[in-house]
Amino acid sequence: SFEIQLASSGEVLQVPDGVSVVEVLRDIGVEIPVSCEQGICGTCLTRVLDGEPDHRDLFLTEDEQAANDQFTPCCSRAKSARLVLDI
Ligand code: FES
Repeated sequence: SFEIQLASSGEVLQVPDGVSVVEVLRDIGVEIPVSCEQGICGTCLTRVLDGEPDHRDLFLTEDEQAANDQFTPCCSRAKSARLVLDI
């Protein structure tokens, strides 16, 4: 598991294994727009302000993934203990 922090509120949430970031956010009433939920369409793309995503999508290019400033929260996870999201 890993943590996400919402930059706007400072709120920190735990993302358990097997649960997506989109689902964790939905549980607290934060709706990220989604379509494919498989990392293909890019609809859910979210800016990352700090931390290192574990990119599991097929949408971003290798260079975009390496920049670590955005990720697809429908399927991607984190390599670092915490991701700070621009939401
Ligand atoms: Fe399609 Fe996340 S909803 S990439």
